[in-house]
Amino acid sequence: MNDSIERVADILIRQHYVVCLSGAGMSVESGIRPFRGPGGLWTEFGEPPLDDYRRFVSDPVGYWRNLLQPQGHYLELYKTLAEAVPHQGYFALAELERQGVVKHVITQNIDGLHHRAGSKHVTEIHGNYTLCRCVECGTRCERSQVDVSTLPPRCPVCAGIMKSDVVVFGEPIPEDVGRACSEQVDLADCMLLVGTSAYVYPAAGFPRHVSAQGGILIEMGPQPTEITELCDISVQGTAAEVLPQLYDAIVERVKEPIQPDGTAE
Ligand code: APR
Repeated sequence: MNDSIERVADILIRQHYVVCLSGAGMSVESGIRPFRGPGGLWTEFGEPPLDDYRRFVSDPVGYWRNLLQPQGHYLELYKTLAEAVPHQGYFALAELERQGVVKHVITQNIDGLHHRAGSKHVTEIHGNYTLCRCVECGTRCERSQVDVSTLPPRCPVCAGIMKSDVVVFGEPIPEDVGRACSEQVDLADCMLLVGTSAYVYPAAGFPRHVSAQGGILIEMGPQPTEITELCDISVQGTAAEVLPQLYDAIVERVKEPIQPDGTAE
């Protein structure tokens, strides 16, 4: 895990379709705890049961009561989500998209920080905590707009049951999001992994798919992960440290924005 930022920059500018896969580590320097590794929520409290979705289906009212009055570490998580702002690594990644170097971000995070930092092409595979989603027709709306005077709230389109857009353990990834992720992974000739332990599927399968189709894997994080040995390059460092350095290294190499076919203007 001691490859150089310069080597990453040299490789990234030669790729045609770089997709970034981000995880909880991307938001640690925005004040949100990771789940695994040092300071991880699950490291401290244990991995949650994998039947959250089954429990939602059998008791949607109980699910909403917990959502409206979160307890324990879920209360802490929602407070840090509400207070979090993007750090400089998020802004650097958004600039790399504007430069045409990074084409898309698939994030496992629910905090919306990529959007807030200016990234435009983002797929939130585990949803977004500020949204609600109908489990019948998939309609999404701002959580602040949902009438919770009667539980569970009903979809304004089909009257199906609404839940948080956040994908809970045991819940299928919504079809539209799953399709978007597959399209991006199939297009990728390089995947930049930032802040993910590459442990939870289906997201953990994306880098393995990119590698199997001949793509390059580049990992950035403070510790080795489940995927480090499969990566072509591993840079040791935190997201807020390495992404701005990567942006500076790329700007030095590319004077004009890169066009969709990978050439500079
Ligand atoms: N910068 C970059 N990476 C970091 C930082 C940091 N400042 N701090 C920690 N990391 C790394 C850790 O070393 C670890 O490899 O980020 C990774 C975080 O791993 P997880 O906590 O497992 O996060 P993630 O991979 O996103 O988890 C996937 O698991 O519980 C579910 O739904 C949850 O989306 C989450 C999924």
